[in-house]
Amino acid sequence: MTRVAVVGAGGWGQNHVRNFASMGALAVVVDRDPKVRAERQAAYPGVRVVASVDEALGEFDAAVIATDASSHASLAEQLLDAKKDLLVEKPLALSSADALRLCELAERNERVLMVGHLLLFHPVVERLKALVDAGELGDVLYLVCRRLNLGVVRRDENAWWSLAPHDLSIAGYLLGSEPTSVAATGGVFLQKEAGIEDVVFATVRYPGERLAHVHVSWLDPHKTRMVTVVGSKKMAVFDDTSPDQKLQIFDKGVEPPPRSLSYADGVRVRTGDIRIPALRMAEPLRRECEAFLEAVRTRRAPLADGRSGLAVVRALEAGARSLRRGGGEVAIGCRGQGGDV
Ligand SMILES: NC(=O)c1ccc[n+]([C@@H]2O[C@H](COP(=O)([O-])OP(=O)(O)OC[C@H]3O[C@@H](n4cnc5c(N)ncnc54)[C@H](O)[C@@H]3O)[C@@H](O)[C@H]2O)c1
Repeated sequence: MTRVAVVGAGGWGQNHVRNFASMGALAVVVDRDPKVRAERQAAYPGVRVVASVDEALGEFDAAVIATDASSHASLAEQLLDAKKDLLVEKPLALSSADALRLCELAERNERVLMVGHLLLFHPVVERLKALVDAGELGDVLYLVCRRLNLGVVRRDENAWWSLAPHDLSIAGYLLGSEPTSVAATGGVFLQKEAGIEDVVFATVRYPGERLAHVHVSWLDPHKTRMVTVVGSKKMAVFDDTSPDQKLQIFDKGVEPPPRSLSYADGVRVRTGDIRIPALRMAEPLRRECEAFLEAVRTRRAPLADGRSGLAVVRALEAGARSLRRGGGEVAIGCRGQGGDV
């Protein structure tokens, strides 16, 4: 059995701790905060709990990094150098240069590098991907992603870096391609001195004139976790806040008029049935942790591999540049060197 260390066992990391413990794989918990260490030690008395990875480097084979985003790159580099397989929470890094360096280091050292793009392991996203690949929605034209709530307000990253990785990973997965440009505007209300955006509205373009609109906010009265996929034949809505109707498939579409008719006379709006598929729900994080252990065991690249994490970081970086430039469209070059469109 792979011996896993969870580095950063705070608000989110404790869920990794729970999952790897229940799979019998948890060997070490690392957290620099003594209060967090005391709580995890009390909950898991048989597990070694330490303040830094250096204290237990020989006691694990693979690690999850669930610390603050600003420390992902340096911790990941240290652990890849020490030949550990890694699952790094999103975002993989805070610059595409760092993310690329991690991918290349993992490849050179033949290590698994996976990113915590949790929603790729959600049963609804899995079903959506199957629907798209089977052509049931037709050509995917565009996506609308809304991820809103009151909190969690972060200090070391803005709402774009904190929340948009989920939507960018879903869009890239469903569209099967990397974005070509991002235009983003946002608002800074709570932490004016630090200039941290609380709300961001972004237009992300993909090859083939497809696009995604991403609206993220931690300053909103409603918890919203919604992805709408508009296809040429059908449309689908993934509402993760719904207890029992998380996926709805609408047999709706608009057919353009035949050439002989004017648009107004000939356009046909089709509104058919709404289908709510029965899905077997499973905790996405559990499935993500299982996928990580499977990748470590088989040495095959996981679904959310380092390169997909790099693609998301490139889009985040382009969005951040666009925010700084007041919303202008920023191209994502093949080497991640964004420029004005
Ligand atoms: N996939 C998801 O759905 C999801 C959800 C929430 C958070 N996250 C990600 O998880 C990460 C952590 O977020 P959080 O909300 O748990 O933050 P948090 O502040 O609650 O926890 C971070 C923990 O890491 C510890 N830490 C920081 N630097 C450390 C270091 N160098 N060595 C050891 N311990 C260190 C801190 O003491 C703290 O306990 C972030 O990257 C965040 O984006 C992912």
